[in-house]
Amino acid sequence: MEKILVSGNGPLRGETAIAGAKNAALPAIAATLLSAEPVTISNVPQVRDISTALELLVLLGCSMERDGSELTLTGAGVHSVRAPYELVRTMRGSILLLGPLLARFGVADVSLPGGCAIGSRPVNEHIAGLERMGAEITIDAGYIKAKCRRLRGANISFDTPSVTATENLMMAASLADGVTTIENAALEPEVSDLALLLSSMGAKVTGAGTSTIRISGCRQLHGARHRMPPDRIESGTFLTAAAATRGDVTIRETQPAHLGLVLSKLKSCGAELTVGEDWIRLQSHGRRPRAVSISTAPYPAFPTDMQAQFVALNAVAEGTATAVENIFENRFMHVAELQRMGADIELQGHTAVINGRERLQGAPVMATDLRASASLIIAALVADGQSSIDRVYHLDRGYANIVEKLASLGANIQRMQSE
Ligand code: EPU
Repeated sequence: MEKILVSGNGPLRGETAIAGAKNAALPAIAATLLSAEPVTISNVPQVRDISTALELLVLLGCSMERDGSELTLTGAGVHSVRAPYELVRTMRGSILLLGPLLARFGVADVSLPGGCAIGSRPVNEHIAGLERMGAEITIDAGYIKAKCRRLRGANISFDTPSVTATENLMMAASLADGVTTIENAALEPEVSDLALLLSSMGAKVTGAGTSTIRISGCRQLHGARHRMPPDRIESGTFLTAAAATRGDVTIRETQPAHLGLVLSKLKSCGAELTVGEDWIRLQSHGRRPRAVSISTAPYPAFPTDMQAQFVALNAVAEGTATAVENIFENRFMHVAELQRMGADIELQGHTAVINGRERLQGAPVMATDLRASASLIIAALVADGQSSIDRVYHLDRGYANIVEKLASLGANIQRMQSE
């Protein structure tokens, strides 16, 4: 196993480029299963969740060509519809295979993902939606076993707007007979991006980015080329690290429009932001950040995937702030680790009350999930002395080259083998 060593050494400074969005690339990879023709996707981030998704597709019989961050997947030779527990348990996004497999082959056998560090994470909306489209679904020995003749269009209304359930049903509906309407759909930019890919494969999708999405199914979808948008959470993570370290950082190849509330919260912290078409510069002018409260909710509100990083920022800010987590019931695992570094945080149910400290102390800490790992790195960048962050495989699930990128911004950070 590997760990990351970080010594707090002052402001981050410089420029870094943002990779393609992991959470847009995962549904795009699943969508390639909808066609027998080659689908090329570029700007795919080189992170472990993507490698897991590709491993799954190859296991099912897809052929793959890879040239750096560009991939071509061809689903002509698919010979299996089974996504095994061994891979699904490492990446919940594997549930995205259910819709495409069922729609194209009339059968799918996908392991239930189970809970994870951030909460129980049910998949009832995925299952209920597919049942409304005519699928017969049973849960057997930990697997979702689904079958159907041809899926038929249906009116589906979510009780909870789920990102991956919206994506799963959009993909299933693309090959269904008739029109599917999804009400209370997720509004996240990754959903809109999937709509673009499905449209370029020949599906008819309208309304993505609003709470009502309509999909007219086709008999067959064809090959396409598609470029992944920039990762908004990686963008937000670097900007938050810049603000916490009182730095001056420009992120390039980003999409400022996807970062609305994150940027306004960083401004409330006292940072100066300059925004271009595909870049953002954050300047702290050496000032300590001011405390800023956040409350997570579906897009366009403050993203749950940025909550942990903002808890770390508030841990060194001036004043007291609250962070309310409304999406996942257990997404505060980083709090206990931040407390080990001297952070003054009190948990009250799904609210963290953070009293900013002038300084934190480096300590050995443990990453518990992807975004928690990022928050520990941010805290370590501003702490006195050295921190070691264990279980960094969580970080590698979603951040491409984060150690190299932070080092290029002046951080004292390196990766090492754990004893
Ligand atoms: N929910 C249900 N039933 C369902 C599905 C979801 O009750 O069938 C609930 C969840 O328990 C949660 C809420 O709906 O309270 C929203 O969860 P959602 O389904 O939207 O989450 P997800 O699709 O499983 C995606 C991202 C997550 C991100 C969330 C929220 C992917 C692959 N994952 O997960 O990303 O936190 O949306 O924005 O797109 C990450 O990248 O670190 C990450 C966890």
